Amino acid sequence: MSEGPAGWGTPLYDAVLDAAGVGAGTTVLDLGCGPGEFARRAAGLGAAVTGIDVDPGAVAVAAAAVPEGAFAVGDAHDPPHGPFDVVVAMQLLPHVRNPVVVLQAAGAAGATVAITVWGAEQECDVRAFGEALAPLLPPRRAPEGPPPLTDPDRLRQVVGLAGLEVVGVTEVICPFDYPDEDELIGPLFGTAIGRTAARAAGPAAVRAAVLDRLAGRRTPGGAYRLENLFRVLIARPPAGQPAP
Ligand SMILES: C[S@@+](CC[C@H](N)C(=O)[O-])C[C@H]1O[C@@H](n2cnc3c(N)ncnc32)[C@H](O)[C@@H]1O
Repeated sequence: MSEGPAGWGTPLYDAVLDAAGVGAGTTVLDLGCGPGEFARRAAGLGAAVTGIDVDPGAVAVAAAAVPEGAFAVGDAHDPPHGPFDVVVAMQLLPHVRNPVVVLQAAGAAGATVAITVWGAEQECDVRAFGEALAPLLPPRRAPEGPPPLTDPDRLRQVVGLAGLEVVGVTEVICPFDYPDEDELIGPLFGTAIGRTAARAAGPAAVRAAVLDRLAGRRTPGGAYRLENLFRVLIARPPAGQPAP
């Protein structure tokens, strides 16, 4: 998963598998499957996994990682109909055009819908990157429109608008472990804020600002650990009723 260092998603995957009751024989549709890391873990439990993603490169990687699964290029707004026992939208909703339509389709295809999202900014240590670079960047404009899906109330509202009932919400802390400074800083230059800050102030200033801000997170061995909160929401279509 490209949202953090290798392996960070394992606690989140396990929380979803547990909360959604995935086990041997469970049929799972993984919407926006990416390179198939969650699918690999689900298939390891004996689940029968189908995955779709709009990115053909990600689909090819997933198919190679989970040869026993079925993967295809596809849009989560119009997924395979199934039915599936569980439909998963793992770190997907902020990336789609219309999260309500995606969740309606998920509820029509599956008996249980599992959604994961980042926690709010103040719940995630990765905000330290933005805080470190803020002095090097133009002032941030206040966001317009509805609150983001990282807001738990907004997430519940969007799930309700899709005609689904919330069964439960679990909070999961995922440590982001970086073995050294280069692993901490390097990926930042691949992000929009890292590139903008480097253009404005130079890569050395970016590096110094981040290392200074994260000095308290450095272990005696020179590694760094950031802890970030994610939410797992389990939803179902209302009893006896398919989602709209
Ligand atoms: C942040 S990644 C998460 C990948 C994977 N679910 C995971 O947790 O490792 C978001 C993924 O959603 C895919 N995606 C974005 N919009 C999509 C859509 N409308 N339908 C299907 N996949 C989509 C992207 O190509 C990307 O692979």
